[in-house]
Amino acid sequence: MAIVTFTSPMMHKDKAVYAVAGDTKTILALADQYNIPIPFDCRDGNCGSCLIEVSYDDPTQKKGIMLTDKEKSKLKELGKITEEEIENAEVNDMPPRYRLACQFIARDEDVTVAFSGVPGGA
Ligand code: FES
Repeated sequence: MAIVTFTSPMMHKDKAVYAVAGDTKTILALADQYNIPIPFDCRDGNCGSCLIEVSYDDPTQKKGIMLTDKEKSKLKELGKITEEEIENAEVNDMPPRYRLACQFIARDEDVTVAFSGVPGGA
């Protein structure tokens, strides 16, 4: 069970929710479920509207970082990830700072997800 804390100037206060382990819900689907207003458009990794900034509440808890090819190429196009960060994610399990909420699946780690409310503005 992971705790996902959403934080944004769009919200009156932070909201922490549980992501069920083994569930394959994306952060965007989880946000939907709890009426968290992360901007989105395509829900498919193409538009970049759902850009979020992710921090790990306990850095020792990190798991393998799954980046889809679609997410990698969109984040690169947006200038939000470098080749070095991709390699660090895939080889050293070092999570990149920015993700796409519609591609990122919450697993066992507790994370804080920040977004500005501006589409693609993280
Ligand atoms: Fe379009 Fe996530 S909603 S990339």
